Parts: sequence; structure tokens; C-alpha cells
Amino acid sequence: MTSRIVQTTPIEGQKPGTSGLRKKTAVFRTPGYLENFVQCIFDGTGGAAGKTYVVGGDGRFFNREATRTIIRMAAANGAAGLIVGQNGILSTPAASNLIRKYKTDGGIILSASHNPGGENGDFGVKFNAANGGPAPEKITDAIFAKTLEIKEYKIAEEGAGDIGTLGSFTVGDCKVDVIDSVDDYETLMQELFDFDAISTLFAGGFRICFDAMHAVTGPYATRILEGTLGAPKGSVINAVPSPDFGGGHPDPNPVWAEELVAIMGDDDAPDFGAASDGDGDRNMIMGKGAFVSPSDSLALLTAYAHLAPAYSGKLVGVARSMPTSQAVDLVAERMGIPCFETPTGWKFFGNLLDAGKATLCGEESAGTGSNHIREKDGLWAVLLWLNILARDGRDIVQLRADHWRSFGRNYYSRHDYEEIPTEAAEALMTALRMRLADLPGTTVAGMQVSTADDFAYRDPVDRSLTEHQGVRIVFTDGSRFVMRLSGTGTQGATLRVYLERFVDRSGDHMQDVQVALSPVIAAADTLAEITKHTGRSGADVIT
Ligand code: G1P
Ligand code: ZN
Repeated sequence: MTSRIVQTTPIEGQKPGTSGLRKKTAVFRTPGYLENFVQCIFDGTGGAAGKTYVVGGDGRFFNREATRTIIRMAAANGAAGLIVGQNGILSTPAASNLIRKYKTDGGIILSASHNPGGENGDFGVKFNAANGGPAPEKITDAIFAKTLEIKEYKIAEEGAGDIGTLGSFTVGDCKVDVIDSVDDYETLMQELFDFDAISTLFAGGFRICFDAMHAVTGPYATRILEGTLGAPKGSVINAVPSPDFGGGHPDPNPVWAEELVAIMGDDDAPDFGAASDGDGDRNMIMGKGAFVSPSDSLALLTAYAHLAPAYSGKLVGVARSMPTSQAVDLVAERMGIPCFETPTGWKFFGNLLDAGKATLCGEESAGTGSNHIREKDGLWAVLLWLNILARDGRDIVQLRADHWRSFGRNYYSRHDYEEIPTEAAEALMTALRMRLADLPGTTVAGMQVSTADDFAYRDPVDRSLTEHQGVRIVFTDGSRFVMRLSGTGTQGATLRVYLERFVDRSGDHMQDVQVALSPVIAAADTLAEITKHTGRSGADVIT
């Protein structure tokens, strides 16, 4: 193999965010942009020589081309082997599984998750470490440091081979295995869940609607749900992945998954509804006419996971990101297991999972997962739910109502203010941070502040400290709001306001969520002066 050494110079702005490097697709397509970053992944992790990697992405525009570039670069950098999803496609959870199962040195995942795709959409590249999880900050910092000093990248002169056909080929000394994207993932799911019970559920007439949102989970869900488990044909909708996700926003929440919401609101709605995102790691869960918030879903899955073979008697602890509601804390407390509170971003769960301190993890942003891999996993959450419903027998809406009656309800919502000028967003956060020390004891919107801080996390495993992870204002009645700026956007800043109010077991659990939260919403606006700083009178997206 002849490889070419291409002279290059550092490109500004290649700092990985909450989940890898995300930019407009057009930015990634500028000559050398992808190449620089991929070379820095290799250079920042001790070089690719003799190593093996998993490569694949969510099928969005530029996925295939980027996969081919990475194959040529890995070969030129001396990689020994690559496992590549057919046509360069792998869901993020499937990639995490492959890294672990075949013990590769890591993986390069091409995705901008729930961000829109297409020529004018977003693209992303993420490095996952040998444990299958997103690289921790010490690795992403090392990669970023390389982007500031890069002088050259290496790429094979020859082509990347045929990634559309299952089988193996070599690029120089690098062996490339093109594998079926679904096979290994399905095998793993079969090991975790009671597939017989779920098949019996479907055979008894249980109906599901799974909205793949024109994204990567289509083939996975179709094969597993309709194929192996026998759900009626047509249960999976928008099942064919498209490079621009059908022109939509592959984000499974009540705003963007409106088609599913409409189906589940129908008189003849299926028993269970679910959706997944661009790269298949997120999930949204619905019952007939009811949206199950991700925070509630995490609490319920924790309470009932013992009904699935893999988790029966195996729950050692749970973890949630700080802004996620505290519903799961109540379940953990009753079960007598620890509940860890981490910064936003799945990478913070990695150490807890590796150290055997947590079994289930979740984030309010539609992410749920377990120690089976090191990513959140959309279809896994759906299958765990199906396993629970199959074994428990109750309808999901009933099960949730019973849960609130037993634990109380944590009303919860997130308000996003998108594409606000970065300076305005930073000014808001700075002003709020400066007030924190004076807030305890003061009254806002009829509620008294009990504590106010900027969340910092000391990792219980490696003792690393991560600071400034979001401002938390907690009131004496247990209500709270959290504010932080998104780390995944590609344009301006997104302010996320997380709102929570607890109503105890005997309280009213059937209120409209926004109405129940209105005092907390008012307090957040007053304290942070959202309107003054952003000029906005309301949030752009409410989930
Ligand atoms: C968002 C979510 C976060 C999730 C991340 C990657 O990050 O809020 O929970 O882990 O996407 O899917 P953010 O944009 O808030 O930084
Ligand atoms: Zn995702």
C-alpha cells in the first residue's frame, strides 16, 4: 500500500463537546476537516499502529464517504483491523457492543445523534474507547490538544474497498471486516430479555408503534420486533433510514415525534408507542394518549427491571444526570441501592458502569441504558419495557399511575431556548452564577430558596473533578430548576432550563405538567431574567 502524507495546519474549533465533535455537514466536508480530526484521534490516543477499531455511523448524509476516508486513514496509520457496518451503518449502541464483544481498541462513530442531517444539516465524529463508551475527558482533551498542533495526516492512496458487501478485504496490511449491522446487537438483546414472554404478548394481540424517524434503528427494530418477536407487520413506521431523516428532526420527544404522538392519541391507539433518534441511542416511551417522561421511565424501569432475566437480582445501583428528575432517587432509596448524580453526558456513566457501581443509567434527554454496553440504547429501553409489560400484565399508563401513588410524582419539563447569541447566553449564566451565594433564604414566586449552587462532580472512581456543570436552584418544598448551556449545538447557544416539582403520594398526579410547574417556571424567569437577556418571551422547544 502506498500512503500519502498530506501537510496540513490546525483548524480552529475542533474541540469535542458533550458528545464528540459536531459541526454543520458543510464544515465537515471542507477539505482536510475530517482528516485533521481523525488523525488527531489516532495521535491523541497513542497512534493507530497495530490497533483495531469499529467504524460506522447513523447513515446520515456524508456517512459513507467519511467511513471510506477513515478506512484509508486507519490503514495508512498502521491499524491492524477494522470492523465496519455494512454501508458504513451502525447504530451507536450496536457500535458500543461490537467494540466490547470483539475487544477492539476503540471505535469511531459518525453521527450528530438527534440533530437534523443532510447536506445542510449536521454531522459528527465521536471516538469511543476500548470499554465501548464515549471517550472520557482526559482522552478528548488529548485529542483536542493534537488538533492545535497537527502538521500532517496520513491516508492510503488506494480506495477503501467495497463496504456495501458483507465479507472481508484488506487495505494494505489492514484487514477490514464488513459485517451485518444488526446480527450481534440482536444476539445481545436475546441474552438480556425474555423474548418468549414478549412474543407471547404480541401473539395475544398486543400492539406497538415504533417510530424509527427515518433513522438508523429502522432495520434493527423491523428485524427484532416484527421479525423475531412477531409484532404485526407495519408496527415499525418510518423504518427506512434516509440521509436527511426524511427532512425531519430525528429527536424522539413529543415535539419532533409528532406523528407517533398523533397515532398514540387516536381512539384506536396501539398499547405501546416508542421512538428512537438518529443514531439509535435515545428512546421515547408512550402509552395510549400518554407520554412517559424519560425521568419517569428511568424510575419505572429501575422499579421493574427484575422482571427481565438480565437484571433479576442484579441491580447494584443506578445513576442519573444531574438535571434528570429525582424520581429514580426515590426508587433507589426504597430498594436500598445507591443513586449517583453525574454531569450531563453519557461519558460520565462509564466509570460507574466499569466499576460495577451502577447497573442502570438515564438522562432526562431520552437516554436510558445499562451495563450491557457503554452507550445509552434506544431499542434496549423499548425491549426492557416490553419485557416488563409482558411479565407484569398491567397497561403502562396504569403501571405509571400506581407508581405515582406509591412514590409521589416528580412533575418535570425542559424548556429550551435555541440559537441565542452566545454572548447573551453566557451573560445570563454569569449573572445567575454571581447571585448564587445570596439566594438561599430569599423568596421568589412564592417559594423560598433553600440551596443554590453550580454543580461540580467528583468522579467516585477516578476522583477527577468536573466543574460548572449547571446552576441548581432548589426550593424548600423540594421543587427545583437547573440551567445550563447545551454542549451539542452547532449554531449560537442553547439555554436549557430543567424544571421539577414534587407532589407526594396523596397529591394530585393528574395535573397538566406545565400548569403544575408554573411557579417553578416563574421563579426561573425571575431569577435568571431570561427575557431580559435573550429577548425571548418563551421557550422554543418544550419537552
Ligand atoms: C444533550 C443532552 C444530554 C445528552 C447529549 C448527547 O446534550 O442534554 O443529556 O447526553 O445531548 O446525546 P447537551 O446539548 O444538553 O449538552
Ligand atoms: Zn443519539
